[in-house]
Amino acid sequence: MISGEARERPQTVGGAARPPGPGGPAWANFTRYLRDPLGTMDGYAADHGGVAYVRFPGGHSFFFVSDAELVRKVLVDDNSAFVKGRALRAAKRLLGEGLLTSEGADHLRRRRSIQPVFGHERIARYGDAMVDAAEHVSGSWADGAEIDINGEMTRVALRVVGRTIFDADVESEAPEIGEVLEAGMRVFHRFLLPGAELLWRLPLPATRRFNAAKRDIDAFLERLVAERAADGHDEDLVAVLRGLRDESGRRALGDAEIRDEAITLMLAGHETTAQALTWTWYLLHRNPAAGEALRAELGAQLGDRPPAPDDFGRLPYTQAVFRESLRLYPPVWALARIATRPYALGPYAVPEGGTIVMSQWVVQRNERHFPDPLRFAPERWIDGPPPPPGAYFPFAAGPRMCIGERFAMLEGTLVLAAIARAWRIVPGGGPPRIDARFTLRPRGGLPATVRAA
Ligand code: HEM
Repeated sequence: MISGEARERPQTVGGAARPPGPGGPAWANFTRYLRDPLGTMDGYAADHGGVAYVRFPGGHSFFFVSDAELVRKVLVDDNSAFVKGRALRAAKRLLGEGLLTSEGADHLRRRRSIQPVFGHERIARYGDAMVDAAEHVSGSWADGAEIDINGEMTRVALRVVGRTIFDADVESEAPEIGEVLEAGMRVFHRFLLPGAELLWRLPLPATRRFNAAKRDIDAFLERLVAERAADGHDEDLVAVLRGLRDESGRRALGDAEIRDEAITLMLAGHETTAQALTWTWYLLHRNPAAGEALRAELGAQLGDRPPAPDDFGRLPYTQAVFRESLRLYPPVWALARIATRPYALGPYAVPEGGTIVMSQWVVQRNERHFPDPLRFAPERWIDGPPPPPGAYFPFAAGPRMCIGERFAMLEGTLVLAAIARAWRIVPGGGPPRIDARFTLRPRGGLPATVRAA
């Protein structure tokens, strides 16, 4: 909470009031935000209400929105008035021109081409790879072993995207890919700094490391895409992307586009899911009754066998556990949008170029939308009313909503089921410190003891 601050009075900008906010010098606002983004955003919502106005360096105006209805309007109804925030636009350096970073007509074309790859039937076929990855990784555990559950969930998720995107065992065939993606993400937070473009032009060691990592990723993916084409693989996502045709019968995506889509899917698909699973184990440990209810459902529905993809619908509590975990610990903890024209945000005027920030962390923990909001209560997704529109958006919403939502829900549910039926995960120490950078991670991983159930 930010207290004792001089508050800006609502001012008039172009006929509409400017929202209240913390006032103060831009650099002080920015360093406070960088030091503790979650606490700072919580403070804006608590102190200033549904929209808070904050000045950051470089003359940038930021509007932090915690009103669910306005979140929905920005993401869904008025999506065409915005482009993505600076961080994602800059992420092109890592991801190239893929679905996540493209805009406008180019985005629409890509989204239309790729959507079929994420259809119901095709996703269900990936379910076997998800169960297999969970069993493979947990199969290396011994009763009483100390593990880093965050590292282990990253192994599971990387295995799943490796199998489904390339039909490859990335751990044995490309052990460097995890490290290379990690190196790319490690420098990602620098994209947020004002003047980031200038930083990139300086020969800093971190920039050189990043550029080297990016070259490695591209070379690896180009090799894999070419090999997969030659091998005649036809089940994985790369094969499907190669097979896409436009109206005139030509290939819809060229090799470089496929490479960029592949890295986008690898990164977007594994990092988020791995963090979500990690936080879920932590929450289950802190809430033993939920752990018992989960095991009861698994016992009743699966008996002694591992889950299969079509068990998904038979595991509503397991699904609710994952959904509730995404509420309390959303891996993507904020979305930013830049106005491409002057925009009326409720009663307030956002100038062209103004940035709107909507935080899942803040909105999904608001008691106006979720009774007893800090309680981990999977049953709210079974017995309770659905949350109001805009109050729950771990996968965003509208035309830029996560294309992998179904994939992620299936993966989360099947991996939880496969592991929880055989193991108890007992994280050690107190609550982990949260590292809110690229995604929401436990700082330094999440050490845990595994016990055979
Ligand atoms: C729990 C897991 C996941 C979470 C929390 C998550 C969250 C998100 C969010 C919030 C966005 C919107 C970003 C923005 O608008 O700025 C997004 C977009 C995207 N996600 Fe996910 N995601 C998850 C899993 C996946 C998976 C498994 C895949 C692919 C296999 C994937 C692929 C993508 C892609 C390609 C986009 C860009 C879509 C577009 O712009 O049209 N995600 N994701």
